[in-house]
Amino acid sequence: MTDRPITGTTRLAAVIGSPIRHSLSPALFNAAFAEAGIDWAYVALEVEPGDAARALDGMRALGLGGLSVTMPHKDAVAALVDQCTPEAAALRAVNCVVPTADGLLGENTDGPGFLDALKADVRFDPAGRRTVVVGAGGAARAIVLALARSGAAEVVVVNRTADKAEAAAALAEPQGRVGDTSSIADADLIVNATSVGMGDGALPFEPDLLRPEQVLADIVYHPSPTPLMAAARDRGVTTVDGLGMLVHQAAHAFRLWTGQDAPIAAMTKAARRELAARQ
Ligand code: ATR
Repeated sequence: MTDRPITGTTRLAAVIGSPIRHSLSPALFNAAFAEAGIDWAYVALEVEPGDAARALDGMRALGLGGLSVTMPHKDAVAALVDQCTPEAAALRAVNCVVPTADGLLGENTDGPGFLDALKADVRFDPAGRRTVVVGAGGAARAIVLALARSGAAEVVVVNRTADKAEAAAALAEPQGRVGDTSSIADADLIVNATSVGMGDGALPFEPDLLRPEQVLADIVYHPSPTPLMAAARDRGVTTVDGLGMLVHQAAHAFRLWTGQDAPIAAMTKAARRELAARQ
């Protein structure tokens, strides 16, 4: 995929997680490094649950240029880095570790990545808008925080499990509250941040609740469109899938690690090509 030689000066970045072998991140980042013409390489490393501390020690000892963190290590890494950004501290979850002169900095780029994707793909600015987030897991929490910090008028969290909804809504104070699916009809933006719709054709909520003036964002990127997105489109709703969020959260990591602008188009192309190759 790249004809760049790996040499004695190549910097290495990696993603840790378990399971990790289906990660799109190596395709995304190696395409980005190639496009930017910089001497970096990126690999996926299987790290067992409970081994995040040893992995971070490895990062320190090996002098990695950057580390992406995915399931199940995001929470553990937040407690293991030398410092967290305010967003990562609020979420108690890190998806990107940046080596700095003061040690390892933990950042969470999921929320900013989601906002960038909304802007780039459907030109949606949450400032002053009513938003509903369905789900309260790690991705949902990052989105709830990002929507609140970007000035959304309200951020309503709808989730199967009530205490997780309360905890997610608290991140969006004072705009956050827990709601139910009846909140969907009044929203400008609805985000499906549950895993529902990834495989079995199930819908996280009844699509008849949607109106054509609304924007529906699904964090799922495979299949695309998801069953929910297809039902929403049938009703004239503007939709966006999760691929943009994936690309833009990686673009933030790229910038933090290299100090350069990320080649978004090349990254998107690489992610699409990799997904297509897996069909
Ligand atoms: P991630 O951290 O990747 O976002 P997660 O923490 O597993 O994933 O969260 C998945 C979200 O999807 C949760 O909000 C979960 O609801 P609960 O908090 O009630 O567990 C939601 N979810 C998953 N399967 C669901 C289903 N069949 N119906 C409704 N919600 C579901």
